[in-house]
Amino acid sequence: MSCVRKVTEDLYWVGVNDKRLHLFENIHPIPNGVSYNSYLLKDEKNVLFDTVDWSGCREFLKNIEEVLAGEPLDYLIVNHMEPDHAASMEEVLLRYPECKVISNEKAFMFMHQFGFDVEGRKDEVKEGDIRCFGKHTVTFVAAPMVHWPEAMVTFDTTNGVLFSADAFGSFGSLDGRLFNDEVNFDRDWIDDARRYFTNIVGKYGPFVQHLLKKASNVPIKMFCPLHGPVWRTDLGYYIDKHDKWSRYEPEEKGVMIVYASMYGNTEAAAHRLASELCEKGVTNIKMYDVSKTHVSYLIADAFKYSHIVLASVTYNLNIYPVMYDFLHHLKLLNFQKRTFGIIENGTWAIRSGALMKNFIDENLKECTVLGAQVTINSSANEGNEKEFSSLADALVDSINK
Ligand code: FEO
Repeated sequence: MSCVRKVTEDLYWVGVNDKRLHLFENIHPIPNGVSYNSYLLKDEKNVLFDTVDWSGCREFLKNIEEVLAGEPLDYLIVNHMEPDHAASMEEVLLRYPECKVISNEKAFMFMHQFGFDVEGRKDEVKEGDIRCFGKHTVTFVAAPMVHWPEAMVTFDTTNGVLFSADAFGSFGSLDGRLFNDEVNFDRDWIDDARRYFTNIVGKYGPFVQHLLKKASNVPIKMFCPLHGPVWRTDLGYYIDKHDKWSRYEPEEKGVMIVYASMYGNTEAAAHRLASELCEKGVTNIKMYDVSKTHVSYLIADAFKYSHIVLASVTYNLNIYPVMYDFLHHLKLLNFQKRTFGIIENGTWAIRSGALMKNFIDENLKECTVLGAQVTINSSANEGNEKEFSSLADALVDSINK
C-alpha cells in the first residue's frame, strides 16, 4: 500500500517515515523518529527529487509507482548524496532503466564511491544551469557544506518551490500532517528542528549564511526539505531561526545550567544558583545533568540560550569526562558568542574551574567567562554564599546589558 501527499498541483510527497530508528547517523537520539522526504514532479517529463534511506525503500517504491501510474520516470535529481537520501537510488535506477540522473560533479564522484553505477545516465549540472521538464523549469544552486560538500538545492522557477536538501529540515516523523501550517511547529517541532540543525549543520554556519544570502535573491514560496514538514506559510519565521543559529546568536536571553555531579554536591550548587537567579528576576532557566542528558540536547539548548553555567566536579585532576565531552562537542561545532559562568568543585584538588575556563578561552570564539566564580570544597557552605550571590549578580547584569 502506498502513502503519498499532494504538495502542489503537479508535485507529490513520496517519502517515508522512520519511527523505529533510535539513533540518527547512529549518534543522535530521535525519540520522535525522522522523515526521509522525496518529491515527484508530474510534468511532460516526470522528475524525482532525491530518494530515501534504504530502510524505507520498499514503501518508497510503492509511492513512486502510484504517482507515476504507469508513466515512465524520466529524471532523478540528486541534491544530496548522504545515504539517508541516496541509498535507494540504485533500486530506483534498476526499476526505471530509462531514468537519467541530474546532479553535480562532486555528487557523481560520491555515487561512484558508494558503488552506484550511473554511467551513460549522467546529466551533470552546475550552479545556474537550467532544465525544463514541460511546464516546470528548474535551476540549480550550490549549497556546499549544508551539509556535505556536494549538496545543492533546486529551485522551481515556475511555482517558487525550493527543494532545499538538508536545509530547513528537522528531526521528527510526519504523522500524516506534511505542511508547517498543519502542525503547531513552535510548540511541537522547534526543539527537534533546533537539535537537528545545531548538531548536523551547526559547524557550518558561514556556509548556511551564504546559502541564505543566495536564497534571499529568489522568490521562494515553499521549502521542500529532505526531513520534516514542508513550509508553505510563514517562511520568515523559519528563515529567522536559521539565520540566528548559523550566526551563533542566541534565540533567547536566559541561562542554561549544566552540572556534572558525582554525589549531589555540585548538583545542589547548581540548584542554589538557579534559585538566586530567580530571586533576582531571571527565570528563563534550563538545567541539565550532563551525565543523564545526551549531548545533542545540550548542544541544541546551548545554541538557544544566551548564557551558560558550567558546574563541574574535578575528576582525576581534570574536568569531569562527560562535561569535557560536552565542551569538546561545542568546539567541534564551531560554537561561539556566549557568556559562561563557572562553578567548580573538588575535595583535595580543585582544578575543574581553571581547566574549563582555559578550554573556553582557547577553543570557543567570542566567548566570555565571567570573573565571578563559585569554588566549592566538597560541598557548598556559608562561606560560598557571597560567591553564589556575585555569580548570580554578574549573570543578571550581563543578561540585562
Ligand atoms: Fe539528511 Fe546530510 O543528510
